[in-house]
Amino acid sequence: MTRVAVVGVGAIGGVVAAQLQATGHHEITLCTRRPLDGLMVNTPDGVVSVKATNITNPALAEAVDWVLVATKTYDAKGAAEWLSPLCKEIAPVAVLQNGVEHRERFANEVSTELILPVVIDCPAERQKDGVVLQRGEVRMQVEAGGLGKEFAQLFAGANAKVELTDDFITAAWRKLCVNSAGAISALVAKPSGVLQDESLGNVALEIVAECVAVGRAEGARLEDDIGLHVLEGYRRQPPDSINSMLADRLAGRPMEIDARNGVIVRKGEKHRIRTPSNRMVVALLQALQVGSILS
Ligand SMILES: NC(=O)c1ccc[n+]([C@@H]2O[C@H](COP(=O)([O-])OP(=O)(O)OC[C@H]3O[C@@H](n4cnc5c(N)ncnc54)[C@H](OP(=O)(O)O)[C@@H]3O)[C@@H](O)[C@H]2O)c1
Repeated sequence: MTRVAVVGVGAIGGVVAAQLQATGHHEITLCTRRPLDGLMVNTPDGVVSVKATNITNPALAEAVDWVLVATKTYDAKGAAEWLSPLCKEIAPVAVLQNGVEHRERFANEVSTELILPVVIDCPAERQKDGVVLQRGEVRMQVEAGGLGKEFAQLFAGANAKVELTDDFITAAWRKLCVNSAGAISALVAKPSGVLQDESLGNVALEIVAECVAVGRAEGARLEDDIGLHVLEGYRRQPPDSINSMLADRLAGRPMEIDARNGVIVRKGEKHRIRTPSNRMVVALLQALQVGSILS
């Protein structure tokens, strides 16, 4: 049995816990801030009740073989408190979060060679009753290499697809192209149908064009027409689709502003690339954040 801890058991943490359980090969520990009254995951293959140990205090954590972090990026500091007791400087940490700075977020607690960044695609949400609703298949991309292979092995026998890639940086920036444009929905507080509007569509194209320029400077190989594909993708979605940034705003939670748009501005500065659209998005979203002096 491999001992696997999942830190942060919301939508993605719940989905991966159910996938891990499906293999029948793991002893699962769920690390949460509040005690869990069980974990039910409504997957496309049926409802799964996850059998796991639940702990809420990092001081009581015992060593495991793998840690999977699935908090929001803005909760990385709290998530990091779990890592030393769970890893004991040996166990690898897979970071299942959006953005392109998976290693940077946990580099103070874990040696970077033990951190495996993961790009995860899976539409999922934690509902008000606590049940996690998995709306589609789970696809993950990780760096090819020893840790990537071990991570893929964790899901052998489950339905989750884990792709090993030699070009993870491109995979992560490609996902950021999609996520950066999602900020428009959060700003106007309307689901993705709002991107049918021509003016907002043009703003989305500008946001993505900046992401592409900065991503290329960071080494990502992004196609010239990726912006159009991103916009078409949003326009093909059911018009009432709510992305996680909008969901966070509607629920009064913080938003992943820095990981999804701020990073484009920061890394743009480093490469002397202007990013006025993302800069404006960041400033406006920060002003909307709960607790802002402007709210
Ligand atoms: N949901 C999706 O469809 C989706 C798809 C692809 C990628 N992603 C990315 O995946 C990441 C996770 O997103 P999510 O949608 O799963 O978020 P989520 O539903 O908000 O879940 C995050 C969980 O982390 C918990 N948490 C926060 N701080 C913690 C701490 N110190 N210790 C233990 N648990 C802690 C939260 O606890 P509380 O319950 O106490 O708040 C919450 O249950 C994000 O980067 C997101 O952008 C999400």
